[in-house]
Order: sequence, then structure tokens, then C-alpha cells
Amino acid sequence: MVKLLFLSHCPSPNTKALRDACLTGIQHPEINNIEVTSCDYLSASAEDLMACDGIILGTTENFGYMAGLMKDFFERIYYPCLEKTQALPCALYIRAGLDGEGSKVAIGKILTGLKWKLVQETLILHGEYQKSFEDDVKELGMNFAAGLEAGIY
Ligand SMILES: Cc1cc2nc3c(=O)[nH]c(=O)nc-3n(C[C@H](O)[C@H](O)[C@H](O)COP(=O)(O)O)c2cc1C
Repeated sequence: MVKLLFLSHCPSPNTKALRDACLTGIQHPEINNIEVTSCDYLSASAEDLMACDGIILGTTENFGYMAGLMKDFFERIYYPCLEKTQALPCALYIRAGLDGEGSKVAIGKILTGLKWKLVQETLILHGEYQKSFEDDVKELGMNFAAGLEAGIY
């Protein structure tokens, strides 16, 4: 089985719906060899990261930046994982009230430092909440899981 770690920050009903949609995509009936672990950033450790084959990150944008708990996660795992998770395939979605670019840039710098591989275009879901955001995140989850299972990353 290929191990996919899915970390998300979900402080609201909308962000919980996005998390659930992403999980639905990952667990598409035709994707059979993916073992997914889904949890919040506070529950995730460097060991979880070193044990996975690919990671999906979901965050809100707060004060023009990633969620505080996501930053805490990066601070905890950065040095323990720096030499051990290079080229880890990853995908990212950001839910923002207005913008999302500040988070994208800040997270991009950290991913560059870690030498992880963003294998999909980052999804920024901004503005008034749209039900279609759930389709977009579901597709991101499905495509990432399918590519990871196929070993194309
Ligand atoms: C303290 C706080 C700061 C926020 N700062 C920003 C921000 O800088 N840019 C932005 O686009 N949205 C900002 N937001 C909006 C959140 O991104 C948004 O509420 C969150 O993604 C949840 O989405 P929802 O309202 O659809 O549940 C902020 C929200 C909170 C609570």
C-alpha cells in the first residue's frame, strides 16, 4: 500500500466540508492501493511524515499567512525531516476569505526549503464560499492519489 498523509486545518463548517471532499477524492473507488491518514496539524509528527509517500496540505489564510497550527507543524518537523523527506510529492489547497496569495508564497518558500515536490497547481479557494470549491478539492485529492498510486511522481 502507498501511504498518503492528509493534513488539514478546519475551523469552520466550510473547511470541514472541503476536508471531507478531498477525502472523498482520495478514496475514489478506482483507487485501491492508497492508505490514507487524515488528521489536523497538531496531531501530526515528524514520524508520520517520514512514514508517508505523499502529502496533501489544506489550510485557511489568516492574517495574510498560513494557519498558525500549520506553521507550528512546519517548525516542529523542519529539521528532523530536512534530510529525510526530500522529493516528497505534495499538493496544497488554501481556503481564503479574500486572497490566499500570502499563504501560497509563504508555504512555497518552506516547501522549497524542504525540497518537497509540488506535483499539482496550488488550489486557492477565495471569495464567498462556493459549493463548487468542494468539487475542486475532491478533484485535487483524486488526481493526487491516482498519481501517487501509479508512481508517476
Ligand atoms: C483571524 C482571521 C484572520 C483572517 N485573515 C484573512 C486574510 O488575511 N486573508 C483572507 O483572504 N482571509 C482571511 N480570513 C478568512 C479565512 O480565511 C476564512 O474565514 C477561512 O478560510 C474559513 O472559511 P469559511 O469562512 O468559508 O468557513 C481570516 C479569518 C480569521 C478568523
